[in-house]
Amino acid sequence: MRVQELASVVEKDSLAGGLHHLVLRSPRIASAARAGTFVMLSVRPGKTVPLEPLLPRPFSLMSTLADAGLVEIYFRVVGRGTALLSALEVGDVLNMIGPLGRPWPHPPGDAIIVAGGAGMPPALFLAEELGRAAGEAKRPSTTSGHAASGSREVIVFYGASTRSQLFFLDRFSAAGAKVHVSTDDGSAFRRGTCLELLETWLDDTRPSQATVYGCGPPVMLSRLFSLVSRFGLPSYVSLESPMACGVGVCRGCAVKMRDGSFRMACTDGPVFKGEEVAF
Ligand SMILES: Cc1cc2nc3c(=O)[nH]c(=O)nc-3n(C[C@H](O)[C@H](O)[C@H](O)COP(=O)(O)OP(=O)(O)OC[C@H]3O[C@@H](n4cnc5c(N)ncnc54)[C@H](O)[C@@H]3O)c2cc1C
Ligand code: FES
Repeated sequence: MRVQELASVVEKDSLAGGLHHLVLRSPRIASAARAGTFVMLSVRPGKTVPLEPLLPRPFSLMSTLADAGLVEIYFRVVGRGTALLSALEVGDVLNMIGPLGRPWPHPPGDAIIVAGGAGMPPALFLAEELGRAAGEAKRPSTTSGHAASGSREVIVFYGASTRSQLFFLDRFSAAGAKVHVSTDDGSAFRRGTCLELLETWLDDTRPSQATVYGCGPPVMLSRLFSLVSRFGLPSYVSLESPMACGVGVCRGCAVKMRDGSFRMACTDGPVFKGEEVAF
């Protein structure tokens, strides 16, 4: 269920490399959100924006704490909208519409999550959602006294350009995921891309029942799709097409599909089956 809510900034962290993390109080969106969904955020005129309100901008939800009514976003400053967001202070208020879009599906079997750079937020939310589901499955049922079956491994491949751009690694581990990390320059963990790490792991492991989830820049998602298709694995990718409305009205977020049709990233996505997308 989509809602519009005034969200207040509860916590802000300015990280290295133009990256920022905001914790926002938004109880209705926090309780409705699923991993893979996103919000449209716009800064209201006021202390930080004296002249004009801003067209909304899309951001993936990185996590929610539904009980506390909180959501998290993580973003890189690339232009005016993200610069305004980065200047917000604790207590400032934003317009937020969400949760929007379709979440990641959870087919049975292991989950291989691949996250590149600032594209990481929907990956962390998915790892935490799967971790919570696994915790609930292990809890003894109140009627039978037995734990539910169906355990799933969550394996994360997370890459960034350099050590100072790697954030929230501990959150993936805390969610119960096995985490493989790379940096392009070799300043921490394995040198290379997360796709190189994944390829080596797939060669060694040859998983039979697993679904691959990718978020990151388009070129990475295209290569990810080619790689995992060689191993016969199904994949889902989260596409960050530029969006003006986020709710299916402006038609500005059209994504070309392999069959020649176009679909709206905001309402049909942002999560698509890898095999459907014309990369
Ligand atoms: C569903 C979805 C989820 C997203 N989640 C995140 C997230 O979690 N963290 C994050 O940092 N960013 C995310 N983005 C991208 C984010 O929305 C853009 O970076 C933001 O809108 C840029 O606004 P701006 O006003 O700062 O930049 P603008 O002034 O609008 O643009 C600055 C430059 O960035 C380019 N640009 C703008 N939007 C995009 C885009 N979507 N893809 C590629 N290039 C773009 C422009 O062409 C221009 O060159 C997401 C986008 C979508 C569609
Ligand atoms: S962003 Fe307007 S239709 Fe998708």
